Amino acid sequence: MPSADKETIIFAIETSCDETAMALISAKGGLINPHFRLIKSEVLSQIISHKEFGGVVPNIAKREHIIALPQMIKMFENLPEFQKAEVIAVTAGPGLAPALWTGVAFAKQLGDETGKKVYAANHISGHLYSFLLSSPKNIDSLFPMVALVASGGHTILFLVENISTFKKLGETRDDAAGECFDKGARLLGLPYPGGPELERLASQGNMHAINFPRPMISQKNYDFSFAGLKTALLYKLKGDNKANWKNISVSGESGSASSTHSADIAASFQKAIIDCLRLKSFRAAKAFNCRSITISGGVSANTLLREEFAREAKKHQMRFIAPEARFSADNAVMIAVSSYIEILSGVKREIQADGNLAI
Ligand code: KG4
Ligand code: ZN
Repeated sequence: MPSADKETIIFAIETSCDETAMALISAKGGLINPHFRLIKSEVLSQIISHKEFGGVVPNIAKREHIIALPQMIKMFENLPEFQKAEVIAVTAGPGLAPALWTGVAFAKQLGDETGKKVYAANHISGHLYSFLLSSPKNIDSLFPMVALVASGGHTILFLVENISTFKKLGETRDDAAGECFDKGARLLGLPYPGGPELERLASQGNMHAINFPRPMISQKNYDFSFAGLKTALLYKLKGDNKANWKNISVSGESGSASSTHSADIAASFQKAIIDCLRLKSFRAAKAFNCRSITISGGVSANTLLREEFAREAKKHQMRFIAPEARFSADNAVMIAVSSYIEILSGVKREIQADGNLAI
């Protein structure tokens, strides 16, 4: 099992949603100076299989994972490092239960066949610890740190007190930020998954064109709410100026909602989501005298979000760290990294899939 004073090789499996992923990493340095070498990472997206349904269908995800897992393992099992791996880390939850079960069952069988120890990982911890993939120096100087996890299923703000200790400050009360991007994209007629598509359209628009609401932003808590924002977009697209959204104002030539360019709508909508995430994250970072701030989860691939967080962090003399955008979305590298930290920190879980696994 991993220990602070030797190199440990960890193999990881992630099947919580619509990506089948495996990774092999070498970890060293323990909790004081953890650093990682990526040996191999594979991610197979199922987007094509879910596209016609406009979202992820759990039983299709399960079927696709069952097909992909035995094929993907072939890309790892002959590597000398795989033979040396001591741990098989597998995402136990949270996520889609039928999808999670495929990974857990596969990992258990692999553990039986190879004699390697199976570790049940938490998907949210995986995102949270992704900041370690940017190889930050002097880990202790990062804490206290605010960590925003913004994905398709979750929007959670954490206070990370040290490498092993974190607590939840707040989370979304309804839709996740990624879900808001996805639903907004759908309303705009963009294909699934909506986040990157909406970002692309937004890049051609004026983010100040429409003043969408920033829900809950004046409330003194660290929670979010995105469902109303989606409704505001719906009213906007319907051109319903009688809707009860005082904040909607239309800039531009005719003043009619339907005349506003869709790129302007996308840019303004994206800006509203990002403002909510930024304002609450930095309010928390200031309240807890944080020395750094990090973002992870699929939404953190968003360029404007990264730019705004980087700018704000500079303004407040905080360090901003984020994994490379390719590690924002679901992957197994983050599962391997978080498992290394959690095993050394003494975190234990039952090896069973749990769609609602708590963080
Ligand atoms: O972390 P992730 O890959 O899966 C979950 O754990 O949910 O996050 C997926 C979410 C989707 O909602 C997707 O639309 C969103 O991340 N996303 C983005 C971008 N890329 C992915 N949202 C905004 N801008 C992006 N560039
Ligand atoms: Zn995720």
